Amino acid sequence: MSRPVLLLTRKLPAAIEARAARDYDAKLNSTDDPWYRDGAEIARRAAAISAEGVLCAAGDPLGAATIGALPASVKIIATFSVGYDHIDIAAAKARGIVVTNTPEVLSFATAECAFTLMLMAARRAGEGERLVRAQKWEGWAPTQLMGVTLEGKKLGIAGFGRIGRELAAMARGFRMEIHYRDLHRAPPELEQGATFHDNDEGFLGAIDILSMHMPGGEATRKWLNAERLGRMRKGSIVINTGRGGSVDDAALVAALSSGHIRAAGLDVYDGEPRIFDGYFGLENVALLPHLGSATIETRDAMGHRALDNLDAVLIRGQAAPHGLA
Ligand code: DGY
Repeated sequence: MSRPVLLLTRKLPAAIEARAARDYDAKLNSTDDPWYRDGAEIARRAAAISAEGVLCAAGDPLGAATIGALPASVKIIATFSVGYDHIDIAAAKARGIVVTNTPEVLSFATAECAFTLMLMAARRAGEGERLVRAQKWEGWAPTQLMGVTLEGKKLGIAGFGRIGRELAAMARGFRMEIHYRDLHRAPPELEQGATFHDNDEGFLGAIDILSMHMPGGEATRKWLNAERLGRMRKGSIVINTGRGGSVDDAALVAALSSGHIRAAGLDVYDGEPRIFDGYFGLENVALLPHLGSATIETRDAMGHRALDNLDAVLIRGQAAPHGLA
């Protein structure tokens, strides 16, 4: 029996490429050649092989124009990510194309990344590392690079989904007080004593550290703007491992420069891999290259989840377990 034709836009972990090559007539991109940055090229390559499935990743431009140009053979777009703001779900639905993502398996890893940034920002780890690496450290000093402790601080989680709740569990170990903002209050078994806020003003004014875990897209675009930053307490910390578009970069740079915001830790950027210039001149911001889910274990689990979705639709003719459209 012939195997379904699958286009992979990105280089994936070895075990995932091996499984794809075993079960599909798979066109791999094992050199991670950057043609995936061009939506028209994705569609052209899908058409050239009459792909039945497209396995894409976060940031690949699967907007309405790309989806409109895909060949009629495409039945499913499986993204190797939990976020799907790079895919026009309505356009896919209109063409009868199933879209799937990889929820759950990256929650702990992404929360770990947020916690890493929280510690880096609070304890000035980026500054310290740069000092040592520049061979400018002259030895221990009583007042050198003093940060703040996380113990006893009020952590405000914006977006209390799986990742936000994993972060809350970690933060309890650091004796932090958990506050959260979401559209709806979580049931007590998920809340675990965290304080729910039903408005941004009360939430932002109550916390010492903001960790952002909101989905991307127009609804959250530039959510953290000058006005909301102004509502935060002086000396607060901002962490973002959600989507870069949720932050007004010029406003955050101004707040970091004035000291109103003590420090920030960012893993995601508006228009990444481009990064707002203003961050580069600041010592009090830790910048990571979108490492949220980047553990060997998690990337394997994401790949298997993406292939499970493809198998359901293209091999077994069933509904995808993690279908979005
Ligand atoms: C996602 O899965 O949406 C991440 O941003 C990539 O790990």
